Amino acid sequence: MSVIENSKLAIVGAGAVGTSLAYAALIRESAREVALYDINSAKVAAEVLDLAHGTQFTGASRVTGGDDLDVVSDANVVVITAGARQHPGQSRLEMAGVNVEILRDLMPKLVKRAPDAIFVLVTNPVDVLAVAAQQFSGLPPARVFGSGTVLDSSRLRWMLSERVGVAISNVHALIVGEHGDSEFPLWSQARVGPISLADWMLARGASGSAATGSVPFSEAEFESISDEVKNAAYKVIEGKGATNYAIGLSGARIVEAVLRDEGAILPVSSVLTDYRGVSGVALSVPSVIDASGIARVIDVPFSAKEQALFEHSAATLRASLDTLGL
Ligand code: LAC
Repeated sequence: MSVIENSKLAIVGAGAVGTSLAYAALIRESAREVALYDINSAKVAAEVLDLAHGTQFTGASRVTGGDDLDVVSDANVVVITAGARQHPGQSRLEMAGVNVEILRDLMPKLVKRAPDAIFVLVTNPVDVLAVAAQQFSGLPPARVFGSGTVLDSSRLRWMLSERVGVAISNVHALIVGEHGDSEFPLWSQARVGPISLADWMLARGASGSAATGSVPFSEAEFESISDEVKNAAYKVIEGKGATNYAIGLSGARIVEAVLRDEGAILPVSSVLTDYRGVSGVALSVPSVIDASGIARVIDVPFSAKEQALFEHSAATLRASLDTLGL
């Protein structure tokens, strides 16, 4: 992987998530320039210095930034991480109001400075904010979307990879729907290498439920993995106050897919139009990401249960958007 000439990534918000994303982007060489913006002058100046001091070891990228919004000028991708953070026990949807107001002010200013950029929302509740940002910017949904369940899917793949003993890159499984409590795994499409997860045989050791032989995943195991993914962020927030590294890496991965014009399939959250009957809310579905943003969303076959869960996720989001007048 090599850095794209003249590519500029701007990150709005130099908190735990924004700076982890910047750090990941530098190490992965996701962009030629990483520009960090925050309203807190001392904090952003210190973060820019701390990151810049390490660039001897990170390749060709350089770091800029400050408290003047002009630092985002002419960025190819703008990632938004600014906003109120989630407190222990608080759901993502409970933080909507204040973060919507931040975006109402911010989006027109960002679009003015980076008129050709792809905008990626990371701030929570990301699906609500993807709708808000799309409306406030006036840009098409393909150019304003949320990091969605890219992170949750990585959590799912990690958990499965630990259980089946296969490299995470060979575990193909997706979380779709809300990045939050109504999300769910697309079990019907999950695979380990060429094998459908439903057909994967787990070897049972002494600590397993069966003493000998091989058994498939049980429904109870699917449920428990699904719950573990859903509650993963709560667990991390409980222990350290925020999640930052994995979301930082997920964000950098999305940025690369855009800047390298990859055509990579990632489950990002965009405002949908008749996707399996759902319109007008942003939910994560597998989407082809290239330099244009979302080139297209992929129509995945859902089982009847997955269709019902998807509609439930859409109804949850719709209710939240209605209370916010979006
Ligand atoms: C998480 C936060 C980013 O899932 O929502 O870690």
